[in-house]
Amino acid sequence: MKFTVFATISLLITSSVARRCANVEVPEELRQEAARFRALSASSLRASITGADALRKSGGYNDPTTRTQKIKLYIHNVYINRTAEGGYIPNSDMEKQAKALNEHYAQTGIYFDLRRVTHTKNATWATCERDTPIEQDMKRTIRKGDYGDMNLYLRPLQGWLGWCTFPKDVVRGSDDYWKDGCDVLQSTVPGGTFFPYNEGKTSTHEIGHWLGLLHTFQGGCDEGDLIDDTPAEAIYTDGCPIGKDTCVGPAYPGVDPIHNFMDYSDDACLNQFTPGQTVRIYQTWDRYRAPWKSNSSYTGY
Ligand SMILES: *[C@@H]1O[C@H](CO)[C@@H](O)[C@H](O)[C@H]1NC(C)=O
Ligand SMILES: *[C@@H]1O[C@H](CO)[C@@H](O)[C@H](O)[C@H]1NC(C)=O
Ligand SMILES: *[C@@H]1O[C@H](CO)[C@@H](O)[C@H](O)[C@H]1NC(C)=O
Ligand SMILES: [Zn+2]
Repeated sequence: MKFTVFATISLLITSSVARRCANVEVPEELRQEAARFRALSASSLRASITGADALRKSGGYNDPTTRTQKIKLYIHNVYINRTAEGGYIPNSDMEKQAKALNEHYAQTGIYFDLRRVTHTKNATWATCERDTPIEQDMKRTIRKGDYGDMNLYLRPLQGWLGWCTFPKDVVRGSDDYWKDGCDVLQSTVPGGTFFPYNEGKTSTHEIGHWLGLLHTFQGGCDEGDLIDDTPAEAIYTDGCPIGKDTCVGPAYPGVDPIHNFMDYSDDACLNQFTPGQTVRIYQTWDRYRAPWKSNSSYTGY
């Protein structure tokens, strides 16, 4: 039996079911690159992704020989008014979110270097939908850094926990360039009010998309997420059902990866990126974002 990702579209706006991430459809261009990366990884892993290879061999996540990448992080709180229900969060919440991201990503070698937190009061921006002129207007005004830097907008999203732009080939100054980044419901920060999604793992999940990862259940049992070491999963997880196994039979070893950050489980259930996902993060980084880092004409913020 093969489920498709479109099953998750019905989650939109419903309040009681699972994690509502808007990165439901994967752009065809990225899907093809992901398939190409997958084919490469078996042979080129040792040569080009030495850190992740060392990580795989050691079976540990804190091996000092592991590849690392520092990414500048800008966190923006865009709010309606200065109350919790108006979407306002203090600097300390944004700092806690950055700290949580670094705890969750430590196993991949990715480190987010928090450069600045900003507050912007604008009700129209705070609640705007994705891919709209208002979103463009907001991001053209407050985005920092370039295409290799992470901009996280924490704001009172309407009906979603979050979304991110997937990496793509962009031109400086284009709409896609400005739109780049992640939008996340502000009450999902560590200690936030949105139980059971209040350990800051929504930002971790969303930034996974920004780094090129797909949902573990993306293409169902057969295509999957185009990563070899995440067990096949037919449909997203809600809660933390130990032993859930939606792709059965010899072709699909392992139970569903319910603890994987790229599933939809409750925050308390999530704690893992696999070595294969780590490899994919670096493959994607090298392909789409690293080139911006060596652009000598850019002086940065
Ligand atoms: C703040 O904004 C929220 C959400 O729009 C609204 O419900 C609340 O009444 C506002 N509070 C004040 C003090 O303006
Ligand atoms: C708030 O957002 C609106 C809609 O995009 C925009 O016209 C306005 O300039 C913004 N206000 C501020 C103070 O930036
Ligand atoms: C490098 O910067 C130039 C000038 O701003 C820009 O035209 C070009 O798209 C940039 N390329 C990359 C990969 O950063
Ligand atoms: Zn997602």
